[in-house]
This record gives sequence, structure tokens and C-alpha cells, in this order.
Amino acid sequence: MEKKTASEEKSMEPRRKPTSGEWVEASVGDFLERRSFLAFLLAIGGALVGGLLSVPLIRFVLHPLLAQTTQLKWSEVGSIDEFKDIVKPVKRVINVEQRDGWRKVVSEKAIYVIRAANGQIKVLSPICPHLGCPVAWSGELNQFKCPCHVGAFSPEGALISGPPPRGMDDLDAKVENGRLLVQYQYFRSLVPKKEPMT
Ligand code: FES
Repeated sequence: MEKKTASEEKSMEPRRKPTSGEWVEASVGDFLERRSFLAFLLAIGGALVGGLLSVPLIRFVLHPLLAQTTQLKWSEVGSIDEFKDIVKPVKRVINVEQRDGWRKVVSEKAIYVIRAANGQIKVLSPICPHLGCPVAWSGELNQFKCPCHVGAFSPEGALISGPPPRGMDDLDAKVENGRLLVQYQYFRSLVPKKEPMT
């Protein structure tokens, strides 16, 4: 008689019912699988909700960085009465507030207050439009003079001579409650027209 192999013998054995231990084992396996799937869904849901909720917080935290750092603020020059009777340019130092991310920087800047031919008060930036040197008023010469390349400007800031491509830049100014206010800003140099730098 032909001898059967052990595996053939085993396959010919009648199938037995699983024991209660084996049922428990299978059910626990299913349960764990379902549990890990639910945990996965919960994790995804949690991440989505967390992401949505954190958007306003992230925007709040990043706002100072995303906000325009060159936002212009008004600086006080002084009482308008101080400039009522001026006949020559008057130099003043103002406090300019600038924001750089979360940092607020206050720096001192010089400006010139002048009375234009039409009687209007104007405020001039002392930064030379040639290469940015500080222009100074010379009462002796009755001119603004730039020390770097001898640019010369009239008492109203118009170009008289030298390499600057335009006259001195006037700054936005206004009078509020009797106080003269100015918006300090920088302009591009070496160009014939006044162009604010952003
Ligand atoms: S920087 Fe003023 S003339 Fe050159």
C-alpha cells in the first residue's frame, strides 16, 4: 500500500471546530483591527480640526512679519505757531516710529521746515537725491548745500547746481490741533522724479 505523507494525512483529517479560546483570539484580533482603524480616523479628524483652528492663531502670530514694515506714521514737528513767521528754512529733529516685525524702532531724523513762495508751510527731507548725503542749510550762502558733491539747492529746495537729478524732496505734512505733523520717508536717489521707496 502506498504510504501517505504527513501533510496528506493531515489534510485528510476531519475539520475540527475552533475552540472557544480560538474564537476569543479571532474576535480580539478583529476588535484590535477596528480599533486601530478608528484611532486612525480620529487622528486624521483631530489633525484637520487642529489645522483649521490654528489658522487664526498663526495669522495673529505672523501678522507683524507680514504687515508692511514701511507703514508710514505721522511724527510731530511742533506747534504751527513756531513757523508762522519764518523767512528761512528751520531745522528740526523729529522722532520717527517704524515697525520691523515685532520690533518697534523710534529714531531721530532731521527735517527742514520752509515757507514756500505761496506762503504755504512745507517740510523738506535733508537727504540729497543724488547719493543720499545730508544736505545742510547755509545762511551765509542762502542755499542748501550738499557736502558730498557740492549740490546746491534754493531756500525752497529747488536744484540750483551740481549732480543731483532733482530738487530736495518734500514730505507729506499737515496741521492737526495746531500741531505740525509730517510723514517721514525715503525716496529713490539718482532718478529725475521723486519716487517713494517702499
Ligand atoms: S550726494 Fe549730494 S551732491 Fe552727491
